Amino acid sequence: MSDTESLKAALAPIAAGRATVRIEDGKASIVLDVTGLDEAARAEIEADVRRVAEGAPGVSEVRILLTSERRTRRLIAVASGKGGVGKSTIAANIAIALARRGRRVGLVDADIYGPSQTRLLAVDGIRPEARGKTLIPVQTGFGVPLLSMGGLVPEGQAIAWRGSMAGGALGQMVDADWGDAEVLILDLPPGTGDLQLTMVQKHKPAGAIIVSTPQDLALIDAARAIDLFNKVSVPIVGVIENMAGYACPHCGEISDPFGSGGAEAAANRMGLPFLGRVPLEMAIREASDAGDPPAAGNGPQAETFAALAARLDEWLVANGG
Ligand SMILES: Nc1ncnc2c1ncn2[C@@H]1O[C@H](COP(=O)(O)OP(=O)(O)OP(=O)(O)O)[C@@H](O)[C@H]1O
Ligand SMILES: [Mg+2]
Repeated sequence: MSDTESLKAALAPIAAGRATVRIEDGKASIVLDVTGLDEAARAEIEADVRRVAEGAPGVSEVRILLTSERRTRRLIAVASGKGGVGKSTIAANIAIALARRGRRVGLVDADIYGPSQTRLLAVDGIRPEARGKTLIPVQTGFGVPLLSMGGLVPEGQAIAWRGSMAGGALGQMVDADWGDAEVLILDLPPGTGDLQLTMVQKHKPAGAIIVSTPQDLALIDAARAIDLFNKVSVPIVGVIENMAGYACPHCGEISDPFGSGGAEAAANRMGLPFLGRVPLEMAIREASDAGDPPAAGNGPQAETFAALAARLDEWLVANGG
């Protein structure tokens, strides 16, 4: 048996399938795949491999390189109990802001009733291609690939698509060819009914962001959305208050036609993190309608979304990297 063969055999019981070994001129080079192991387990296996290798015949020096495959992709759902609170706007812009921080992000528009991401990201009318049964996300101009129910559900047939067909289409989008995307932002349809429950149950997001406007009614609906995620043990990343105060397009002064702070107070009451607020601004609606997402620009709105993305990023790091 060569020295390499005997070292391989010696390592088999402690690093079966994880170690690639080569010995040259007494130098053992070992590539150790530590995918799926936490830090303590990595340190332990590395120490064990080093000990065995240093004691192996024909070895005078040991070099170990740790490698790890890409983390599994994580889904972050953006949800609200009530429609029209700005879920899609926030999902799109937080995805873009997160991508600007260097995260590899994809966006899934699961809204069968009113898919809006193709308009927000200016790829209306572009149908996703497929390789066999695998969908290929549409590249947008903002560093975030997109798949939208809009491309899969025949127009005007949302009602007929309720239930299992919509579930199947969502599965196809989540399992699409996302390349090296590590985070998928999932724009859920509004509401807390069976459709949303099934989607969440089946795809088990790593976390959920709840969007609410400051009004009491919206907050009651938000609480319902929170309940839905609690029911299936999906952690809440936090609450975002949208349309909080009106920023005057002329002077920038913020007034509170609908009040503000309600979502933060509600989050505090429920013991949930509050991620931040986005003011009601004409510029946000106009840019969104024009397919020119504010998070991709350099104005104050971009900063607002960058701050929200930073909070999400912190959460991602604290919850697995
Ligand atoms: N902070 C904001 N300032 C101004 N307009 C906003 C703001 N947030 C969202 N909007 C506008 O409000 C409308 C509804 O937003 P959006 O489509 O994101 O809500 P939604 O919760 O996804 O709605 P749906 O429940 O129908 O999916 C859009 O016209 C959007 O441009
Ligand atoms: Mg929407």
